[in-house]
Amino acid sequence: MAKTLNEIRTTFLDYFEKNDHRIVESSNLVPNNDPTLMFANSGMVQFKNVFTGLERRDYQRATTSQKCVRAGGKHNDLENVGYTPRHHTFFEMLGNFSFGDYFKEKAIELAWNLITKDFGLDKDRLYVTVFHEDDEAFNFWKKIAGFSDDKIIRIATSDNFWSMGETGPCGPCSEIFYDHGDHLYGGLPGTKEEDGDRFIEIWNLVFMQFEQVSKDKRINLPKPSVDTGMGLERIAALLQGTHDNYETDHFKKLINSTSEAVKVKPNENNLSSFRVIADHLRASSFLIAEGVLPSNEGRGYVLRRIMRRGMRHSHLLGSKEPIFYNIFKTLMDEMKGNYPEIERAESLIRETLKMEEEKFLVLLDRGIKILNEEISKIDKVLPGEVAFKLYDTYGFPLDLTQDILKSKSLTIDNDKFNTLMQESRELAKKNWKGSGDSAVDDIWFGIREKLGATEFLGYETNQAEGVVLSLLKDNKEVDQINSGDEAMIIINQTPFYGESGGQVGDKGEIISGEFVFEVEDVQKKLGDLFVHYGKVKKGSIKNNENVEMKIDIERRDNVRAYHSATHLLHESLRRVLGTHVTQKGSLVEPDRLRFDFSHMKPISSDEIEKIETYVNSMVSNKSEVKTRIMTPKEAVNNGALALFGEKYGDEVRVLSMGSEKDKYFSTELCGGTHVRNTGDIGKFKIVSQSSIAAGVRRVEALRDKQLDDYLKNKEKLSDLSAQKDEQTIKEISEKIIKAGGKPDLSNKDQKGLIKDLSKQLELLSVKSILEDKNKNVINDETINGIKIRLQKVDGLPPKDLRKLVDNGKKELAEGIVIVFANKDDKVGLAVGITDNLIEKYDAVKFAKLGSEIIGGKGGGGRKDFAQAGGTDPGKIDEAISKLKEII
Ligand code: ALA
Repeated sequence: MAKTLNEIRTTFLDYFEKNDHRIVESSNLVPNNDPTLMFANSGMVQFKNVFTGLERRDYQRATTSQKCVRAGGKHNDLENVGYTPRHHTFFEMLGNFSFGDYFKEKAIELAWNLITKDFGLDKDRLYVTVFHEDDEAFNFWKKIAGFSDDKIIRIATSDNFWSMGETGPCGPCSEIFYDHGDHLYGGLPGTKEEDGDRFIEIWNLVFMQFEQVSKDKRINLPKPSVDTGMGLERIAALLQGTHDNYETDHFKKLINSTSEAVKVKPNENNLSSFRVIADHLRASSFLIAEGVLPSNEGRGYVLRRIMRRGMRHSHLLGSKEPIFYNIFKTLMDEMKGNYPEIERAESLIRETLKMEEEKFLVLLDRGIKILNEEISKIDKVLPGEVAFKLYDTYGFPLDLTQDILKSKSLTIDNDKFNTLMQESRELAKKNWKGSGDSAVDDIWFGIREKLGATEFLGYETNQAEGVVLSLLKDNKEVDQINSGDEAMIIINQTPFYGESGGQVGDKGEIISGEFVFEVEDVQKKLGDLFVHYGKVKKGSIKNNENVEMKIDIERRDNVRAYHSATHLLHESLRRVLGTHVTQKGSLVEPDRLRFDFSHMKPISSDEIEKIETYVNSMVSNKSEVKTRIMTPKEAVNNGALALFGEKYGDEVRVLSMGSEKDKYFSTELCGGTHVRNTGDIGKFKIVSQSSIAAGVRRVEALRDKQLDDYLKNKEKLSDLSAQKDEQTIKEISEKIIKAGGKPDLSNKDQKGLIKDLSKQLELLSVKSILEDKNKNVINDETINGIKIRLQKVDGLPPKDLRKLVDNGKKELAEGIVIVFANKDDKVGLAVGITDNLIEKYDAVKFAKLGSEIIGGKGGGGRKDFAQAGGTDPGKIDEAISKLKEII
């Protein structure tokens, strides 16, 4: 029986372990050490800085099975998937690595022995390529494999020079090919027929020698190294006697599952759709497992494209219901052994798949409707704008538009469509830049290399002594820092917590004799180098001197309590809202906590109460908090919640707290500092919730003293405003009565009532002003045969002049109305001209001129009505006479 895909992975890793390689876990698909890369696209990505010498590990040989996604950036296979037997968006790359240890000869020997002995491949079917100048590799192949010259093909193109991306480690490579037999079309590498299915590359050995630093600069790596890559799916196909990856045990299971879900059997015509679904399900699930969610930008956008492309094919197979979330179970059972994250994230993955597919089905329906309407308007060609809008705005796939048009013998204006696409791509590229992870500062690599890791003592102690290893000022290492300097200090060990896992860094003091340094923040560089940031208050210090470190204990105790409260909150959210809740972000400070998590809708007040009750009951239980150190596997077996996207070492701290029927309420992997007993947390309450992104909610919570303060303040504030409201109501009512009105108190809501009363008062006072002949002066005159109304209102806020102008126009029937109103220093001017006169006169001109005189900056409006303001009520009469002159 041929080995399964899972067994082949194990054979590979075991083989290299036997040959003194460390088995290293796959890194995340979302790289955490590279600002330029969207997804891990090969095994070497996690070792990039090891190759370039910036980072050192405690092994020189490693082997991995690396999760890769090639659906964006330099290596992008998305559009090919489904139509070839070998392309994938998600695949696993098996690899072995030497970091300055062995080089070409050993790499070739190790590869040769594995494929011919352990995998038992027929030597006669194997061929290799080398970079055309690489005589060394050529000769090693001759020696080790006993190949004749014609089996070692020299290639001069970039096919035999591998690079990770625009920049990064690179070098010449040698590829191993397998001849699947002459029943298939295809030729040897370097020939015209090389793209056929007959001769297939199975392994790429890269002799890493250079680093591409920028477009035109390439430097040598510190030591020649090795990076190899073998697609697991390909080698599995070969060992299972096929040239088609989708014919392997693994993909057959996925395809069968799909076939059951859509109730259609795969055949020659629909096979592509089955392949696309199997592949895209894998990519989508693994990305979601790392917390990437479908969205319209960056990684989320690539994920959405993959998901929708897959879902479009399930629609093509005739499925009207979401199916991905159901087939996922098959994938999970297949992969969880090697990638437990896929099981940990099960509910998140299923929910996300289901929701996206439901949305997409609606969108397909809508798109088809719109398209049919557009089709009814055209003769032969659908405008590019319409196709683009369908695609871009409605998410309606272009190939579907094309399909539908084709069936009706219609086409698309492709040129226009492509132009619009190009523009939108440029925009996407611009948006992507800068949204990657921040590059690790080069200087820290050097310092970390020189000094080693800082030992953290802060779990056990609040103060400690240490030796100064490095001092930095203005981002440069210095020998001494002095009073007044803003600086950074690195010490061999420290009780100060460095910001991580959402918990803020400690504050405190570093002292030595006269020297006092106030620590304002502590950051961890490269994972374990603690850097104390702050200011020298007094004295000075030099490298190698001894210091005493004291953290601000009260502050830290509060932070501890908030961190433990965060764990209880996390578990409570999962209990009340569901296990799809996963942490998306967290901030633990001395006076509050903030927690972001995946959840699609607002939390009801009922749910909030339940969550708070969970947390508070764990607090009042007053149970001991337990910390254990385990391997990540043990931790997960103990039910620990691990965070997506976090990197864990060989040993992890596991925090368990809250007692519940002899079990812990919460167990999480965590490097933070915590209370000893849940009773130390104090009373807990959620004080706000909001949505910070699609599907991500944020809650903020307070505890103990800060909660008391908050509640007291809130009470005081609402008392105060209640008192103030009553007073205001009384005052306004009295004013209304004085002005001869009667307050209408029917509004029950105090704020609303105040608003109503103010309005009533305003109307009353406007009315009384307009009725007062001394305050409201109207002069109607005729100049040059034109009727003019000049009106001045003293004490009227200038905002409501339009009504007066309209009234004046009505009363004059034909003519010009000019109204001035002033209250305090504010003057308003409005001019109205009846329609029959606008050929001759322009209201805007009048308003401008008037406003200049009353100290304003000119006004605006239309020929029949214009308005302006000013600041000098004393000039109103002057303005009136000037305006009369221009009529
Ligand atoms: N990094 C090399 C590749 O991806 C091995 O082909």
